[in-house]
Amino acid sequence: MTIQGLNYEKLLQISKRVNWRIEDIIGHDKPMDFSRPFLPESFARTQKLDFLNPAERLKLNQIRAFGYLSMFELVERCILPVIEELAPSRPGQDPHRTPALAQFAAEEAKHIELFVRFRSAFADGFDVDCGFIGPAEDIGAAIRNHGPLGVAMFVLGIELATQRHYLDSAQDDEGLDRQFRSLLKHHWMEECQHAKLDAMVFFELAAKATPAEIDQAFEDFLDIGGFIDGGLGQQTALDLASLQMAIGRTLTDAERQRFSQVQHQAMRWTFLGSALKNEAFLEALEQVSPRGRARIEEVAPAFC
Ligand SMILES: [Fe+2]
Ligand SMILES: [Fe+2]
Repeated sequence: MTIQGLNYEKLLQISKRVNWRIEDIIGHDKPMDFSRPFLPESFARTQKLDFLNPAERLKLNQIRAFGYLSMFELVERCILPVIEELAPSRPGQDPHRTPALAQFAAEEAKHIELFVRFRSAFADGFDVDCGFIGPAEDIGAAIRNHGPLGVAMFVLGIELATQRHYLDSAQDDEGLDRQFRSLLKHHWMEECQHAKLDAMVFFELAAKATPAEIDQAFEDFLDIGGFIDGGLGQQTALDLASLQMAIGRTLTDAERQRFSQVQHQAMRWTFLGSALKNEAFLEALEQVSPRGRARIEEVAPAFC
């Protein structure tokens, strides 16, 4: 991803063209089909748990999808104030910069609403209440409590990862629930523009940063990743509790251990690895610091 060819005016035009409505994706006339998986197997990784029968794996897939909805709602609640803070432009900056970032913020607010609507449809159709880490405000505040360049790097990574969630798996998976697949697709359609705007903002902040600040941004980014990974570990335990409730049996110690190992790693890939391995993300990092990129590539395998 290079800064050449990126243009606030063009991105704003595309955003306005793409813009969809929540009612087109979820509602009473568009129910979720609980006889189908929601999340692509590359992210759910339920097949590796051979002590679960197919019906139990399906439950786990859906529990993981609930976690996906909740995690993205959390991440977007965290990102929104970051974008709003960046939106005002200085005199002499591109006149389309502020309107493009304002459109971006409005879309993220809509995405939050979309995830809330899906979570509510999920709660209506699933047998048990699933737990999720939180409170979201505290997690978001802890992420934002890092330098602006490190936070911008995190936002760029996660928004590029979202594209991969649709393109690499859901796009060709006809077996998935139609509504969940539609969510991944529509989210991707708008995130394409967001990721480009993120890159522009990231390069803008990087251009003003000293070499020491750039090094610190990579430290901050890794620290945010470690913090999120801790949360994913806690989420794995919550998902295990939800699954045992949903299938009405307690797993053995060995099965629980295997569950935690496979599912924590599956979540690492979904929320962290799919960003760290993203070629566009790595190229953006390379432009700012080849040494920083190398460092990220070094840690990436642990999240795959
Ligand atoms: Fe979004
Ligand atoms: Fe976004």
